[in-house]
Amino acid sequence: MKVTVVGAGAVGATCADNIARKQICDELVIVDIKEGFAEGKAMDLSQTAQIEGFDTRITGSTNDYSKTAGSTVAVITSGIPRKPGMTREELIGINAGIVKSVTENILKHSPECIIIVISNPMDTMAYLSIKSSGLPKNRIIGMGGILDSARFRYFLSKAMNCSPNDLQATVIGGHGDTTMIPLTRLATYCGTPVANYLSEDALKKVAADTMVGGATLTGLLGTSAWYAPGAAGASLVEAIVRDEKKLMPCCVYLDGEYGQKDICIGVPVIIGRNGWEKIVDYHLNAEEQALFSKSADAVRNMNNVLSTLSV
Ligand code: 2OP
Repeated sequence: MKVTVVGAGAVGATCADNIARKQICDELVIVDIKEGFAEGKAMDLSQTAQIEGFDTRITGSTNDYSKTAGSTVAVITSGIPRKPGMTREELIGINAGIVKSVTENILKHSPECIIIVISNPMDTMAYLSIKSSGLPKNRIIGMGGILDSARFRYFLSKAMNCSPNDLQATVIGGHGDTTMIPLTRLATYCGTPVANYLSEDALKKVAADTMVGGATLTGLLGTSAWYAPGAAGASLVEAIVRDEKKLMPCCVYLDGEYGQKDICIGVPVIIGRNGWEKIVDYHLNAEEQALFSKSADAVRNMNNVLSTLSV
């Protein structure tokens, strides 16, 4: 079983590191455009094999996609990350061309591959990937909701002084500072509503902190985050490769579900060996549904920008 990670920057390398350490596949290929960079990352990671106790064979490649041939899953992390003060949406001009050509190169050598998109603006990049490739919709998955939901649980766990592992909490909608929707009403602590433990104001603050979770880290780090995005990407690869049938919030192509059509946006889906296999209906209330529609409008506006670019 072979997995490819395209982009050996911080997110791609962290994703590859998690994939190797969890021994999700026996062959892992890292591709990067910068001469020797992916080879270096692959060698460095490979030298952790004996320390960490994994057997995954890791290969680096400078833009030679023939080495990725026969991949079951490919993760696209290529493109530029945001700098402090930038939104994810501002990256579209540069990242659209990159994501389109990476998608083509992957599919040339692995036509049956499932593609995970992490590059930003993620919802629009997933949409571009599906539209430009014509792949069946279940084979393109944007990762954002898994990351945003992990951040939601982090902020909830801090406010409640509890383990994030005892929390169930989901973020749907776009992967943007103003488009994501932390579903506070449905969040639970060991099956009981979090509203039993936190005031309305505290819950509002948790949701607000979650929404700007990526921007806060970009401000602190001077570039966009990598540990949680990389780990989230690897968990998605794992759910596919091991056919886990896990319920994960991911960005997928909607065809009427949640009241939306012809858009890639975050909803709860079952992930397994076929990619995303089923969309789960969370029965949003009127307020949540209105937020979802607003989020979809913003994502669609960003998708419309694609037609003004020469990609
Ligand atoms: C983030 O939110 C990279 O979009 C990613 O950190």
